[in-house]
Amino acid sequence: MAKLYDQITQLLEGSVDAAVVIDADRRVLHYNLAYEGLTGLRGRQLAEKVKGGARCFELFKLEICDQQCLGCKVHDVGRRLRVDEIGARRGDGEDLTFIVSAAPVDLGDGRRVVVETYRDVTADVRIQRRLKVALDYERRAKEDLEEKVRERTSALRAAQAQLVHQEKMSSLGRLVAGIAHELNNPINFVYGNVDFLGQYMEDLLRLVALVDGAELPSALRAQLDVLKAEIELDFLIDDWRKLLRSIRAGAERTADIVADLKSFARTGGTELAETDVVAGIDTTLNLIGPLLKNRVDVRRRIAPKVPRVVCNGGHVNQVFMNVLTNAAQAIVGTGWIDVTIDTVDDGASIKVVITDSGPGIKPELMAKISDPFFTTKEVGEGTGLGLWICANIVRAHGGSLTWGNRADAGAEFVVMLPVRGPATRPEPDPGRG
Ligand SMILES: Nc1ncnc2c1ncn2[C@@H]1O[C@H](COP(=O)(O)OP(=O)(O)OP(=O)(O)O)[C@@H](O)[C@H]1O
Ligand SMILES: [Mg+2]
Repeated sequence: MAKLYDQITQLLEGSVDAAVVIDADRRVLHYNLAYEGLTGLRGRQLAEKVKGGARCFELFKLEICDQQCLGCKVHDVGRRLRVDEIGARRGDGEDLTFIVSAAPVDLGDGRRVVVETYRDVTADVRIQRRLKVALDYERRAKEDLEEKVRERTSALRAAQAQLVHQEKMSSLGRLVAGIAHELNNPINFVYGNVDFLGQYMEDLLRLVALVDGAELPSALRAQLDVLKAEIELDFLIDDWRKLLRSIRAGAERTADIVADLKSFARTGGTELAETDVVAGIDTTLNLIGPLLKNRVDVRRRIAPKVPRVVCNGGHVNQVFMNVLTNAAQAIVGTGWIDVTIDTVDDGASIKVVITDSGPGIKPELMAKISDPFFTTKEVGEGTGLGLWICANIVRAHGGSLTWGNRADAGAEFVVMLPVRGPATRPEPDPGRG
């Protein structure tokens, strides 16, 4: 057994790792040269302390010594244990990192000692940490770059779509303006001549009445009565006035549509002008009439004396067009849309509130709906650019577009526009946010 002990101590002498042999009471029985370096004590000082029964933690203390003694545990369980990356302060004050390993050795005479070794891995750990920092930095830089590329790509896609949209809108504007112009002339023929036609007919009927009331030779009277019966003169007199009224009403309605088309077609320009926003909303409601007809009841509440607003009428109409269309599309089956126009801030701004009886906006989508390309509509039904463009137009006018849900379901969109227009001129391209 003494032989085994000697063999162990001899082995430890040659080890580059620091090592001690301790007993059950943690007293140091043996230590090697490398251990001496850890304690910071000179050879003789250390030898005297060991001779005086010093315990291991009094000579060199690991971070874990206060909470848990590795040597004691190994002594009790009788098997080898190892702990990685344990901090300890060397005798000269330097903080180091060790792999500590402890193994029990039964000497055969009933005594069990524990051989504890300390491998200094400070340099490795430092390199690993530096490497980790460098790798983290690289990873973050890569993620930042990817994020920037994503942002740029989406901004580019949005700008491209915006350009296409602008181009479509101005082509549509030109087309609509052209059609409105072409329709204007024929409808003016009808509208302008319908009253003359009425007057001529009245004159002719007076003549007919005169002839009918006159003394006529009996043969002529008989011919006249046959003709009156044939053409159903009484019905004709009654019906032609109705016909004339419906021709006039149709011509008026067509002229109104042409006027709406003309006013809506002014989407391409960039000019600011004093604009009647209420008329703009009415025009828009007329244009989306087919979407609302027999299905959605539109209720308007307009404050008295809504001032004209300095804005780009065409662009602002686009905002109402999209918000009203969205509301009409959100309503499944029948429902209603309320449009309220008020002045706020002592008349400095107008506030247009559009509420609907649809299902409202899902809370998780609330922040996303004005993102470019965000849509919940079927492919081909919506581009998802509507609210994004609206927000940009309103912002370019120094106003705001906000939305939320009403307490009893249904969405609410609020457009605020300063009456005197934007502080600076709006961007020519309303899509640039
Ligand atoms: N009144 C509303 N009620 C419920 N959801 C709405 C309402 N208005 C807008 N949304 C939601 O916001 C999304 C984005 O609207 P946006 O006008 O930007 O695009 P879109 O209507 O889907 O497409 P586009 O306007 O190009 O036709 C809609 O798809 C819809 O999910
Ligand atoms: Mg839309």
